[in-house]
Amino acid sequence: MSEEEGSEASTSLEELNERLAAARLGGGEERIERQHASGKLTARERVDLLLDPQSFNEIDALVTHRCRDFGMESTRIPGDGVVCGYGTIEDRLVYVFAQDFTVFGGSLSATNARKICKVMDLAVENGAPVIGLNDSGGARIQEGVASLGGYADIFLRNTLASGVVPQISAIMGPCAGGAVYSPAITDFIFMVADTSYMFVTGPDVIKTVTHEEVTKEELGGAATHSARSGVCHFTRANDAACLLAIRQLLSYLPSNNLDEPPPGRGDDPPDREDPELDSLVPTDPNKPYDIKRLVVGVVDDAEFFEVQPDYARNLVVGFARLGGQSVGVVANQPAYQAGVLDIDASLKGARFVRFCDAFNIPLVTFEDVPGFLPGTQQEFGGIIKHGAKLLYAYAEATVPKLTVITRKAYGGAYCVMSSKHLRTDVNLAYPTAEIAVMGPEGAVNILYRRELAAAGDDAAAARAEKVAEYRQRFSNPYIAAERGFVDAVIEPRTTRGHLIRALRQLAGKRQRVPAKKHGNLPL
Ligand code: HXC
Repeated sequence: MSEEEGSEASTSLEELNERLAAARLGGGEERIERQHASGKLTARERVDLLLDPQSFNEIDALVTHRCRDFGMESTRIPGDGVVCGYGTIEDRLVYVFAQDFTVFGGSLSATNARKICKVMDLAVENGAPVIGLNDSGGARIQEGVASLGGYADIFLRNTLASGVVPQISAIMGPCAGGAVYSPAITDFIFMVADTSYMFVTGPDVIKTVTHEEVTKEELGGAATHSARSGVCHFTRANDAACLLAIRQLLSYLPSNNLDEPPPGRGDDPPDREDPELDSLVPTDPNKPYDIKRLVVGVVDDAEFFEVQPDYARNLVVGFARLGGQSVGVVANQPAYQAGVLDIDASLKGARFVRFCDAFNIPLVTFEDVPGFLPGTQQEFGGIIKHGAKLLYAYAEATVPKLTVITRKAYGGAYCVMSSKHLRTDVNLAYPTAEIAVMGPEGAVNILYRRELAAAGDDAAAARAEKVAEYRQRFSNPYIAAERGFVDAVIEPRTTRGHLIRALRQLAGKRQRVPAKKHGNLPL
């Protein structure tokens, strides 16, 4: 190489390095400091913590926006406010985009949207999860319809990728407008306490339109979306904990809908018994107990990754492993509102069941449910159509399905909670199971209304006698077992062994639904 050629090469390398350095700096030192001062990491720091060390490959680091309005032509930052690429988590391929709040508030421009669409397309083509780290003021105001179109392009891809590859969103700053609708279509939403917000329109707009005064935190903070709206599935205390939790969640999921979840590494013996489970269900049918004690007693290494722990606490859902196999757990919670099924619990359960079914994750249901919650609030709110969603989800699911009835399985809730009639593969019951159209008190009131009215002073004794008779006749698992609606009545301490043997038996299960464009879920 001549001296002249050598100096040309070093100049062109210098230019490349300068451009890449500018991309790495995003909105500049001062804005990075502001980001840190508000308790947040930068987009690049987040990507580094999320992925295996040195595994990130950036795509489109040098892309810039094309806007020429509002003086934007003089502020072109390489990368344009979103860091995109691929890397690995526990050696498995994932695609990632991380919005950079230091560049125009992480707002979405047309080119920024094109970058996100590119990684989403690659993720679907290569069968790997997409993780979006959102920290964005929504559509870039200066770009008008070009940025709105960019959002619509993303929403389309979110929808087409749904059920094909897992899509995970983390909300890691103030997210408004389009920045919340894309996450809403994805499978799971993480939020960071105190630094993240989600709303379609912020407090200022609300004040103008409806005259309501509300703080950002109250309107769209992590507590609101975890406990009230149910929009958020997981809340973590800070960015680092949030990114670690995404890695944990992925360990339960396959890379795509044609893949199996990765096997667990634990060595918990498959036939391990838990003698304490024999006395977990109280003899008094009205006494509560914590269903999570049963879940952790049964699953591998007592590890249960709960989804939406603060929303509709009457139904517990989450991921665990049984004999190394990833499973989705759905359990009525007698310790909260007696485990009754209401609108929120039905929605929570239905979405979780459909996710597991889409991604080949077997379903394990623990049932202790007194029925659907009665009352005008529930009826006016549409418990009929919302309860039907859970029923539909279980009926449609073709993954291996296992059910354990621990105590109450009453009425419609018996049918809904993965009963034999919905093509559940293995239905087990404890000796304490009570399977009937309704509880003894309600049944006696209806069946013996006239006799009890005529009994006068003896009504209380007559009622007690009838309740005992009903309980003796119906409140047990044996009528269902005689009909084969329950495959076996088991000792609670042996639950783990029964479930793992059942799962192994079902490893090759193939079941289909009739060919159709898609069903019509009662939305
Ligand atoms: C362009 C934006 C922006 C946006 C923020 N910025 N949002 N630039 N377009 N949408 C810029 C700010 O001008 C500011 O630039 C920098 O980002 C940081 O913003 P601040 O307001 O200083 O930060 P903060 O006080 O933390 O407030 C963040 C915020 C607020 C809550 C996100 O900026 C905000 O309310 N933004 C607008 C939100 C919004 O209504 N977006 C449009 C949604 S409509 P400088 O240079 O001053 O530091 C939408 C359509 C899609 O998205 C519809 C889909 C269905």
